[in-house]
Amino acid sequence: MKVLMVCLGNICRSPLAHGIMENLVREKGLDWQVDSAGTSSWHIGAAPDRRSVAVAKRYGVDISQQCCRQISSADFDAFDRIYVMDRMNLRDVLALARNDEDRQKVQLLLNTEVVPDPYYNDEEFEPVYQMVLAGCRKIIDQELQK
Ligand code: 4NP
Repeated sequence: MKVLMVCLGNICRSPLAHGIMENLVREKGLDWQVDSAGTSSWHIGAAPDRRSVAVAKRYGVDISQQCCRQISSADFDAFDRIYVMDRMNLRDVLALARNDEDRQKVQLLLNTEVVPDPYYNDEEFEPVYQMVLAGCRKIIDQELQK
């Protein structure tokens, strides 16, 4: 299974989702490919935000080597599932979809809830980490039940 995690900047939330999911699939011995991207071009080439790097590190997840990139329509060919953090991401990713098959790949990471943008609030990084972790665990559990 090939999974792409997407947020606005690809420096705060989706790098966490990328690193957390990679760690979980490794623990479970699953042969999944995980990546992340942003809907914006703002931080292309940048490392994750230091606050995301720090919260991940506290839980033994190293995201420091990730590099920001922007999502494109080609990602619909490369990935089976595209998980977005909030409704703006959902709208922006769906705008890149070319057909129904593409559209069906896109879901909110938390299904009906959103992962809030923590960029302007240092206090949000810990709760965001926990929300993303819960979402990733649920996705794996659901997939293993199939
Ligand atoms: P992310 O957070 O979408 O979780 O990576 C943001 C990162 C940067 C900005 C906004 C949100 N920004 O305005 O630069």
